[in-house]
Amino acid sequence: NVLILDFGSQYTQLIARRVRELNIFCEIFPYNHIPGDLSSYKAVILSGSPFSVRSEDAPHPDLSQIRGKMPLLAVCYGAQYLAHFSGGEVAPSNIREYGRANLSFVKDDELFFDEVALNSQVWMSHSDTIKQMPTNGIRLASTKDVENAAYRIEGETTYAIQFHPEVYHSTDGKQMLENFLVKIAEVPQTFTPKAFVEEIVEEMQQKIKGDKVVLGLSGGVDSTVAAVLLNKAIGENLYCIFVNNGLLRKNEFENVLEQYKGMGLNVKGVDASARFLNELAGIEDPELKRKTIGRVFIEVFDDEAHLIEDVKWLAQGTIYPDVIESVSVKGPSATIKSHHNVGGLPDYMKLQIVEPLRMLFKDEVRRVGATLGISPDLLGRHPFPGPGLSIRILGDITPEKVQILQDVDAIFIEGLKAHGLYDKVWQAGAILLPVNSVGVMGDERTYEKVVALRAVESTDGMTADWVHLPYDFLMKISNEIINKVKGVNRVVYDISSKPPATIEWE
Ligand code: XMP
Repeated sequence: NVLILDFGSQYTQLIARRVRELNIFCEIFPYNHIPGDLSSYKAVILSGSPFSVRSEDAPHPDLSQIRGKMPLLAVCYGAQYLAHFSGGEVAPSNIREYGRANLSFVKDDELFFDEVALNSQVWMSHSDTIKQMPTNGIRLASTKDVENAAYRIEGETTYAIQFHPEVYHSTDGKQMLENFLVKIAEVPQTFTPKAFVEEIVEEMQQKIKGDKVVLGLSGGVDSTVAAVLLNKAIGENLYCIFVNNGLLRKNEFENVLEQYKGMGLNVKGVDASARFLNELAGIEDPELKRKTIGRVFIEVFDDEAHLIEDVKWLAQGTIYPDVIESVSVKGPSATIKSHHNVGGLPDYMKLQIVEPLRMLFKDEVRRVGATLGISPDLLGRHPFPGPGLSIRILGDITPEKVQILQDVDAIFIEGLKAHGLYDKVWQAGAILLPVNSVGVMGDERTYEKVVALRAVESTDGMTADWVHLPYDFLMKISNEIINKVKGVNRVVYDISSKPPATIEWE
């Protein structure tokens, strides 16, 4: 187990992902919440930071329990921090040091630089520079502009690097992380999806014992993997509820329910479409739509959960990025949209929470899912927002509009699959616009709806770019939509990136 101390760098999660790719488990803690008991950690990594060590409000944690006592790798700000407080000197640099640079080795460190190329490319992102190394520092490498690009400390297993080994553009970055963790710190590489499954199943069994657990399935990857894991751990004591809010994709409720049953899950499908659509009638404001759906979902879920006698636990598909976000250095980042997921159940339900995926990143959830035998089809599904099609129908929602959008969306998504494009796209869908436009069909003038198609590439939904779908494909889909879906006479394609445009239109 490796501890990553976060000083607020945008790359901290990336360090964790690289470490996990080496089959080594790691946890991120904010610099001001260092765990009291460090005995289970075999190495510590200090992250970068947007701060300057010289600033008063910069993170200045006490590392006396760590430094010199266990292997330590200090990255960027971490490297400056070690220098600044241990007899070295950090100063603003004359040249801004951003982007690529090449390492030249000053002193051959056989372990740290093992299998690292001469002149290896590394990625820099800092405005301060280490003018003088800390006491007992031994310079290992420099670049053209940075004299102290890597150093270690005599008599300790402490290494410090000014560049970011975690980013893709540091060509041998992962190798250096591996060298530090495996060759120097001798951390075992035992964190595999299979090992995770074995461990978590046992942990869940011990925690839950013979109690009953209720879980809300959404058809998405996280809740599905959480359900299959719990099913493996506690079998029939897991009660899954899958709510149809009337805003799912075409036939999604029936299809997914079928799939779940085929996986041996104890799942109850609850069709509450009419209730949701009733409550949403006349609402145009996107946030009010989200709040209404969130509230009705909780009511429906609560009613259903009450039918299960003596239920003690609520299981959720929370994953690691949500956990880090809620304890991060900066606190949860500003809410741009109020994302509704299960969460926030009424107090009187008094259920204890169990979150089997809370230590995993999304790609790890997928790998665990694959280990559990969940179909690639289900694991590769595009993300779909909790409020569903409600936020893709601009303006008020009616059952007719939902049906039109479901038909359009189905043609688009099926088309992407048929043309081998589905897996190249991170997320896709259609949006029903609140405007009519003039068209001509046969000899008749029409005045009907416009739909927009959106397909984006992304890795985490935080930033995204529109996908350059082939014109031929767009032509076919547009034709099919206009010919088959009554009430639509115009199709447009959204060519906006995020930022500034969000993925969803509402
Ligand atoms: P935006 O539109 O903010 O979307 O660029 C980023 C990702 O989040 C999804 N999204 C939501 N998911 N409830 C959800 O569960 C929501 O209210 C919500 N709004 C957006 C969106 O589909 C994309 O994947």
